[in-house]
Amino acid sequence: MKVLGIESSCDETACAIVEDGRKILSNVVATQIPFHQVYKGVVPEIASRKHAEWILPVVRQALEQASMTLDDVDAIAATNRPGLMGSLLVGLTFAKTLAWSKNKPFIAINHMLGHLYAAHLENDIPYPYLGLLVSGGHSIIAKVNGFDDLEVLGTTIDDSVGEAFDKVAKYYDLGYPGGVIIDKLSKEGDSAAFSFPAPKLDKGDHRYDVSFSGLKTAVIHQADAFLNKGFEKTTANIAASFQETACKILISRLMRAVQDTGLTTVVAGGGVAANSRLRALLAEHSELNCIFPPLKLCGDNGAMIAGVAYHFLQRGDRSEWNTTACARIPQFKRGLANLEAFGRR
Ligand code: KG4
Ligand code: ZN
Repeated sequence: MKVLGIESSCDETACAIVEDGRKILSNVVATQIPFHQVYKGVVPEIASRKHAEWILPVVRQALEQASMTLDDVDAIAATNRPGLMGSLLVGLTFAKTLAWSKNKPFIAINHMLGHLYAAHLENDIPYPYLGLLVSGGHSIIAKVNGFDDLEVLGTTIDDSVGEAFDKVAKYYDLGYPGGVIIDKLSKEGDSAAFSFPAPKLDKGDHRYDVSFSGLKTAVIHQADAFLNKGFEKTTANIAASFQETACKILISRLMRAVQDTGLTTVVAGGGVAANSRLRALLAEHSELNCIFPPLKLCGDNGAMIAGVAYHFLQRGDRSEWNTTACARIPQFKRGLANLEAFGRR
């Protein structure tokens, strides 16, 4: 089964064709970064306008790369939640129209389920495992029982980890998108320079939760207070110390989940899963089997959408023509994920 997957939830216009949930026949990602860079962040109006301009050529290119026509496609999938409303609507409406006009099955996909599936495109991963979903909008630790069956153990109580990277980079005028830049700049800095604070969410319901707004505020407004003797306040040192703390916050909560569930396979997904320090720190845990998507599949792409869509379609799931987009997914809160939030509407 060949599925064409469209992704337009934020600032990448993307389309891919994936066969049987595994074989990537084409994967086109048109990034809008240069258009948002001058504003140091994503401008929603510009994002939706660019999606509308680019969606047709991007889909055409994906078909060309796969040496296929629309008639060779068995089904069409698109991200419909969560994300920027205007951006989501472009990809979703385009995909529904295409599917309807060609009389093909259509399925709407949760973006975060796509991120989690990215690692499955290149690996055979048995369930259950622990999922670490870290992106610009989310930070989730979940027990994953199946492609659409997640128990959210912990999530952020304020900012997402990607948001913290982006805000710190913006404040120090490092550029956009912040995560990649901080990752690179950190290699020139010393993470021992600053002892930034980590949240103290230790008990009960918050045992697996993360928080990044305190760290972000400390890095932005109180850096001097956390500078260690003998170190200089350089942006490289700030970046390295911030990144180290952010990664360790995630890993400390993840390790609690490992201990409590006994699960030792960890599958990461989302833009922040590209972070080199997060990868290195997790690799030090030889008791874990950590699986990361390849770098090109960590960020937003259509392959992860087409890949996970295959499994819904195989099960006989289809989305209605009146399926709409949702900017937020309240069910990402602890313990409420499962089918309703992640899978079907
Ligand atoms: O998954 P993604 O492309 O979009 C969302 O679904 O949000 O994630 C984007 C986020 C941004 O916050 C970006 O700064 C961050 O991922 N990111 C990184 C790295 N590459 C991208 N954060 C840390 N290190 C990186 N190498
Ligand atoms: Zn994403």
